[in-house]
Amino acid sequence: MKRLALILIVVAFTLDVYASGFWDLPPLPPPEQYGNLLINRLSEKKGERPVTFSHWSHRVHYTCRVCHFELDFQMKVNTTEITEDANRKGRFCGACHNGKIAFGHTEENCKKCHNGDITYGKEKFEGLSKTLPPSKYGNKIDWTRAIETGKIKPKQTIFDEPYEPMPFKKKLRLEAEWSMVPPAYFSHEKHNYWLDCANCHPDIFNIKKKTTKHFSMVYILDGKFCGACHLRVAFPIDDCRGCHPDITTKY
Ligand code: HEC
Ligand code: HEC
Ligand code: HEC
Ligand code: HEC
Ligand code: HEC
Ligand code: HEC
Repeated sequence: MKRLALILIVVAFTLDVYASGFWDLPPLPPPEQYGNLLINRLSEKKGERPVTFSHWSHRVHYTCRVCHFELDFQMKVNTTEITEDANRKGRFCGACHNGKIAFGHTEENCKKCHNGDITYGKEKFEGLSKTLPPSKYGNKIDWTRAIETGKIKPKQTIFDEPYEPMPFKKKLRLEAEWSMVPPAYFSHEKHNYWLDCANCHPDIFNIKKKTTKHFSMVYILDGKFCGACHLRVAFPIDDCRGCHPDITTKY
């Protein structure tokens, strides 16, 4: 036990060790592809090319809750039962891609979505990223500061009634189970702009602090807990200090 603790001290404080693969961090795509998806549950089976979808181009206009709460998209690619028919009836992509809010489901537009190209929108990204506050990882855009500085104002609802997030601002200090590892911090306030309480509670986290079991990096890297978002769309796990600000690095 003592030896394990000692190993962890060393591990937690030297970035070199992380880089050398103590954990298998998933490889990061280039910034313009971080959060991009090819949706292909049915497309190729039905003779269409897979559908391109980029998180960065949509989160500039809408928060996560709009799609992942109001419009019922699952937070796992190829799990939502999106069909051409449902889209045309105004569900899923069709809630916006109706020719009014954004281009609709007409013949000339099929290929804007069904193009099988994960790099789709690259030029647009280069223009956009120059106007937003930078960060080191993921899209290399600091999305929290982009909101705080008023550079973007994503809508929090697509409905007409006004929406205000519940004013729950509790900041939590999540102590590691292992001693000597600097804690991770979780701010409800910063998350609640983007997300609905129901995006996290009760499926991802118990509502009671410290009741979430096996809350550790191995599970996070397996896509659980913080890893539900911080591997694919929100800034990636590589940014250790994003969550553990007191981890020291060599630079
Ligand atoms: C705004 C984006 C978008 C546009 C525009 C669009 N689609 Fe799709 N379509 C999707 C998504 C997302 C899916 C689900 C993909 C999957 O499961 O593989 C889908 C699924 C499909 C499917 C397979 C599922 C089914 O219903 O059989 C077909 C066929 C299809 N679309 C045809 C079309 C045609 C034809 C057009 C143009 C008239 C079109 N789509 C325009 C986004 C779009
Ligand atoms: C305009 C709609 C839209 C917005 C806004 C949006 N998403 Fe998504 N998201 C999707 C769709 C569509 C999928 C794929 C669902 C499917 O294929 O079943 C997805 C998938 C995901 C996935 C799974 C990715 C994977 O590789 O499996 C995560 C994680 C995710 N979203 C997180 C977020 C977060 C965090 C935000 C806010 C910063 C956000 N999304 C905003 C539409 C959206
Ligand atoms: C909440 C509204 C909303 C939903 C839901 C939504 N979109 Fe969009 N989408 C937009 C808007 C608005 C734009 C225009 C963005 C811009 O001008 O930068 C856009 C742009 C796009 C583009 C870029 C087109 C281009 O030529 O620049 C693609 C591709 C796209 N959406 C695909 C999808 C797919 C696929 C889905 C469903 C899986 C989807 N969108 C769901 C609002 C939405
Ligand atoms: C998205 C947030 C987030 C990021 C990014 C992150 N961690 Fe963690 N980490 C956590 C949480 C939450 C815990 C569990 C805290 C607890 O036990 O309450 C944790 C636990 C740990 C532990 C304790 C041992 C264990 O597995 O529980 C170590 C060591 C650790 N992190 C190191 C790192 C390193 C190194 C990085 C960068 C490669 C990193 N973390 C990135 C959130 C994060
Ligand atoms: C991005 C994910 C996320 C969102 C969104 C979120 N929470 Fe939490 N919440 C957490 C985490 C993580 C914990 C700590 C769980 C643990 O320690 O086991 C927590 C804990 C709590 C607790 C217990 C706090 C304590 O000190 O015991 C309450 C109450 C709570 N959340 C309410 C809310 C409400 C209300 C909302 C919406 C306004 C919300 N949460 C949105 C992740 C989230
Ligand atoms: C449901 C999705 C989701 C989950 C789960 C989640 N986050 Fe986040 N988190 C986000 C989004 C979206 C942002 C906005 C910044 C971004 O996209 O990079 C964010 C931002 C943050 C920030 C930056 C706040 C700032 O001041 O810049 C921290 C720190 C953070 N998350 C820690 C955590 C920790 C720790 C956990 C697990 C206990 C966690 N998050 C779970 C989606 C999530």
